[in-house]
Amino acid sequence: MFDGTPDEISKLIEPGRVHRRVYTDEDIFELEMERIFNRAWMFAGHTSQIPNIGDYITTDIGRQPIIFIRHKDGSPQVLLNRCAHRGPKLCNDPCGNARALTCLYHGWSYDTDGSLIDVAMPEGSAPHFDKKDFGLAKAARMGEYRGFIFVSFAEKGASFDEFLGPMKANIDDLVDRAPEGAISLDAGIHRYFFRGNWKLQVENVLDSYHVPFSHASTVNKKGEQFSRREGDKEGAQVIDEKKGKKESTSDVWKGRRSYVVDFGHGWTSNTELKEGERSSPAYDAYKEALAAKVGHERMEEILAPEFHNSLLYPNCSIMGLNMHVRVIRPVTTDLTEVTVYPVKLVGAPDEMNAANIRLLNVTHSAASFVQTDDLEAFRRTQVGLQSVQSDWIDLSRGMGEEQADSHYNATSESAMHEMAIRAQYQAWLYYMCEAA
Ligand code: FES
Repeated sequence: MFDGTPDEISKLIEPGRVHRRVYTDEDIFELEMERIFNRAWMFAGHTSQIPNIGDYITTDIGRQPIIFIRHKDGSPQVLLNRCAHRGPKLCNDPCGNARALTCLYHGWSYDTDGSLIDVAMPEGSAPHFDKKDFGLAKAARMGEYRGFIFVSFAEKGASFDEFLGPMKANIDDLVDRAPEGAISLDAGIHRYFFRGNWKLQVENVLDSYHVPFSHASTVNKKGEQFSRREGDKEGAQVIDEKKGKKESTSDVWKGRRSYVVDFGHGWTSNTELKEGERSSPAYDAYKEALAAKVGHERMEEILAPEFHNSLLYPNCSIMGLNMHVRVIRPVTTDLTEVTVYPVKLVGAPDEMNAANIRLLNVTHSAASFVQTDDLEAFRRTQVGLQSVQSDWIDLSRGMGEEQADSHYNATSESAMHEMAIRAQYQAWLYYMCEAA
């Protein structure tokens, strides 16, 4: 029996390797739900998903169903989706608009800030019953940065500012691309499940080592998938064509860096995609709109984005190449839900935003050419980890080559190494053993 003491948990993580039980053990999974997903700051939604009063979406954070709703006073609210009477899920629709939230069971109704408005047949209420005591529960803490809403179910712990820290720059890198300085996540979603542990997807977003191999069919010498971006003429050039030789990973790609900061967050440096050289009628109109807002010099800076994939550990990833926000939700030890929100740049031509959404259909939908490669790797990993003859998985690439990076106040290493994943397991240990 696994009792979850810090001593026992610490034995699962060694320098450069992780015990396979971290991915397969149901007791550990239960502790992760309690100690990570009920403690850490978690992405809950983006204000653009609920533009009008009464707009709501429903989702889950770890095991907890939530309602993300715009209250009458205009404030975004994160409410637990559980009637305060006998507990049924209050809102069953994925999204909608409501002036009040009414439970299907006995008709109690709640305001958009969760306060209880009415109880059916109130004459039957007990003498001590007070409506004030029966509002919907809320996440203990909420934080917002440029429309990104995060919540923590723990009353204590690192503040939202401490949690986000240098990662604000990653959000800025994406949002500043919009001529109106705002993004919108209202273009629908891709949602899929894979048969593997949630950490496999989290690790993968900062794992550049797999790209030339797992995605060989799409990041070939012409980089065909990525050259489908609006106005782009060239791909990501992951693979070099060397005359008379076998194709190999390009030196440019090998030169990419990964970075880590506190709390398991990190990112990979941007690909050499020459954003400024992209050209099409829609992309040119976008550049014009951006320059009109921020000036030509700043536009040039914005069009040289610094970040490729960013991870806000443990449940949120931002991708700057095929722009989207990805949310990772564990369901069971070996089942994970992933939701992909396409990013629309407010103020960019509709045609360009539509092209980004179409590109995501090709790269990161459940039936895409890129994401499916990863999902198959996750499934096979989960199967392989059932083997008991070898208990450890290796994460040692680049150990000892980490460097302090003063520009970002981060630690950096070649993106072809595994520092970012090792950092995720330090955060995992922190939440599992130490976080209040
Ligand atoms: Fe919701 Fe009774 S359970 S009103």
